[in-house]
Amino acid sequence: MQVIILDSADEIGNYAADLILRGVERSQINVLGVATGSSPLPVYAALARKRTDALSRISAFALDEYVGLPYTHPQSYHAVIHREVTVPLGLDPARVHVPDGAADDIEQACAEYETAIVAAGGIDLQLLGIGTTGHIGFNEPTSSLASRTRIKTLTPATRADNARFFGGPEDVPHHCITQGLGTIMDAKSVLLVAQGAGKAHAVAQSIEGPVSSMFPGSLLQMHPRATFVLDAEAASELTLTDYYRFVYENRPEWQR
Ligand code: F6R
Repeated sequence: MQVIILDSADEIGNYAADLILRGVERSQINVLGVATGSSPLPVYAALARKRTDALSRISAFALDEYVGLPYTHPQSYHAVIHREVTVPLGLDPARVHVPDGAADDIEQACAEYETAIVAAGGIDLQLLGIGTTGHIGFNEPTSSLASRTRIKTLTPATRADNARFFGGPEDVPHHCITQGLGTIMDAKSVLLVAQGAGKAHAVAQSIEGPVSSMFPGSLLQMHPRATFVLDAEAASELTLTDYYRFVYENRPEWQR
């Protein structure tokens, strides 16, 4: 696991965008996993600034979607991904996939989502945020570490956190479809971005705590190519920050 501590959300955005664009230009990233929420917004802003035509050739798969919101709702992840990702990055809308939270048969929709990821060749790089509960995707604490795309119930804490996007906590849907932890672990590499002190505990548990379904982000310790890119506040509960900074500042030339 690589832990990179940078000075600002802008730096995080630039770092992640450069990494993604380099992978896309070299055809190492043909399928990008995309997250919603606030954390990846600086990454999308930097990608939009630096975008090249190569981005229009990639496929994208969103992590999750609320159940029961029409696609036209501005906070449905169909709408959010279209607004924040597809349009500004110049992706081909036909290649951008979001779980179907409005499906009549949710189980079938989840199975089809898994099939579509495999048919696209699997996710090359999965961009992640992390919830204050330690969730990645919407895999809340006690999610099966082997789970696949399925319906989940959001915790009250996550619904309160996401109330800022809605009229209030009571307007946040109770259910979602999310890629499972097993699905996320199948991505060839994962890049988690986190900013702010509110994420410090979840980040510390995920990087330095035991691997546990109580902090689903901790499963990334088992991923062979996982990178956390943090600001100082999000890194503030880590114990080995000096070591992470030393490793990053002294990384060999081939890793730069
Ligand atoms: C979003 C997602 C979630 C968010 C997490 C953090 O697609 O899967 O795991 O990344 O809830 O949200 P923000 O970034 O808004 O703090």
